[in-house]
Amino acid sequence: MQCHSESLSMWLYLFFSIIVHVSHVNSANILGIMPTASYSHHQAVQPLWAELSLRGHSLTVVTTHPMKNTSLVNLTEIDVSQVQEIYEKRKFSEIASDENISFLEKADLLMDMVDESDELILSSPGVQNLIHDKNRHFDLLIVEALLPGMTSFSWRFNCPMIGISPLDTSSFFHQHMGNPNHPVVNPEKNLPVNDPENLTFIERLVSLIYNVVTEVMFNDKSKYFEKNHKIYQKYLGKDLPHFESLWKNIALMFINTSPIFQNVRPLNPNTIAFGGTGHIRNAQALPKDLQEFLDNSDQAAIYFSLGSNIVGSQMRNILEEILPVFSELPFRLLLKTDVQLENIPNNVKIQSWFPQQDVLRHPKVKLFITQGGLQSLQEAVYNAIPVIGIPFFGDQITNINKMLKMGYGIKIDKDNVTRESLKSAILEVINNSKYQEKAKQMSEILKDEEVPGLQRLIWWTEYVIRHKGADHLKSLAGEMPHWKYFMLDVLSFIGFIIFIIIFLIYYIVKYVYRLLYYLFNRQKLKKYLQKFLIGNEI
Ligand SMILES: *[C@@H]1O[C@H](CO)[C@@H](O)[C@H](O)[C@H]1NC(C)=O
Ligand SMILES: *[C@@H]1O[C@H](CO)[C@@H](O)[C@H](O)[C@H]1NC(C)=O
Repeated sequence: MQCHSESLSMWLYLFFSIIVHVSHVNSANILGIMPTASYSHHQAVQPLWAELSLRGHSLTVVTTHPMKNTSLVNLTEIDVSQVQEIYEKRKFSEIASDENISFLEKADLLMDMVDESDELILSSPGVQNLIHDKNRHFDLLIVEALLPGMTSFSWRFNCPMIGISPLDTSSFFHQHMGNPNHPVVNPEKNLPVNDPENLTFIERLVSLIYNVVTEVMFNDKSKYFEKNHKIYQKYLGKDLPHFESLWKNIALMFINTSPIFQNVRPLNPNTIAFGGTGHIRNAQALPKDLQEFLDNSDQAAIYFSLGSNIVGSQMRNILEEILPVFSELPFRLLLKTDVQLENIPNNVKIQSWFPQQDVLRHPKVKLFITQGGLQSLQEAVYNAIPVIGIPFFGDQITNINKMLKMGYGIKIDKDNVTRESLKSAILEVINNSKYQEKAKQMSEILKDEEVPGLQRLIWWTEYVIRHKGADHLKSLAGEMPHWKYFMLDVLSFIGFIIFIIIFLIYYIVKYVYRLLYYLFNRQKLKKYLQKFLIGNEI
């Protein structure tokens, strides 16, 4: 009897602990905010929204690129896709890739664009409802960690927050998480460096200055976000604290890095790298015409896409060079562009969109010509496809230069895209097997994960929900002023002691020398004294 009731209570205990555990995690209300109107950013994060909602969490996601997937019943998307028009109107990609505009000018222009798009998001009906609904409660905010503004929603809903970065995150976010932020070992991803593994003296100098400048820009007292902060105050309340004190609340940071695409960096337990595979979907059948086009290719097929940001005249110039090349080559080409073109060779298929992941899976596809966006490179490597990189701006330049180091392709300068350079690059990558072999080797490394990236994100997301934050994972390094972190006081003290010792040694040597000198000059006196003393003694 005793035994029976014990096992019963044990059973009840187990039953309730499972119920409590499951219902606790199941009932979570999660707010996601992805304010950057760049498709690739969303592509990296959408699988997380889908997977969390499939696990029974209730998600509300403010997004410029809604999935509109009706089978995800637990996911409510607040569509702010009009932000895309602001990016187009303000010629985002053209400004970002214009080398005649200085870094600070670019920062100003892009910040104006962010101000306008943030205002649009905050004033949109869906977000207004969210802000003013007194009964709205969230257990967690997952917010894009690119700019600080949207972290304000963790203050509005008084909930823990996870930062997610579809790329590597910026150096100041790393610094705040307490991760080492070395300008030479890990130069900022948007800083164009020729060889990310071996910076020249000038690049090292610029990289240090870049880190300092961005840190000053993001400083609490900086004028740089003043206007942006006012916009948030206008919509969320006058007592909204400074951004810096908001992002101090970031419990975890999810970053899309992997040793294949970025220099290795030591990360604290509060920073989870999900690099490389998180957004890779299961294979889906290609549309019939595409499947036939690729199947019927006698030789290699090539996929060309410069992503979603390279448009207009930038794109047209390149296309006018590439089409004539293909009238001479025996390969088939899938070309992604919106630009209307004439005289299209028979072996070229043009569409404004391709199911990129499935195209890259096709065995006939042997080369990917890309602008070097991180997701594109990840998909290329995942499918062991070598690349030709034509980088334009931002992290693309360093991504492609890192790709050169890893050896799975070659680069063409964006100002040097000619028939000749394209043709010789294509023939080189297709005919020289070393690129294919490198791509295969990188692919094997990328896929060899302890836990798949997406599963890692799910586990850590629920961890933050279970513990209502992750203060215990905070690194002291993130909070410390630089003088303490770099031990300037301690080193100065040791320097001072060493100075004192050297000073003392100097004076001791000096006086001993003087003494010897004195004795030396008084040799005669000494001898006389000696004689006198000895004589006396005798
Ligand atoms: C919608 O989401 C489900 C679950 O993740 C997925 O299986 C399905 O392919 C998605 N549909 C579309 C059209 O992407
Ligand atoms: C331009 O491309 C050609 C190959 O066609 C190459 O020889 C040359 O070095 C390139 N120039 C620059 C500046 O990259």
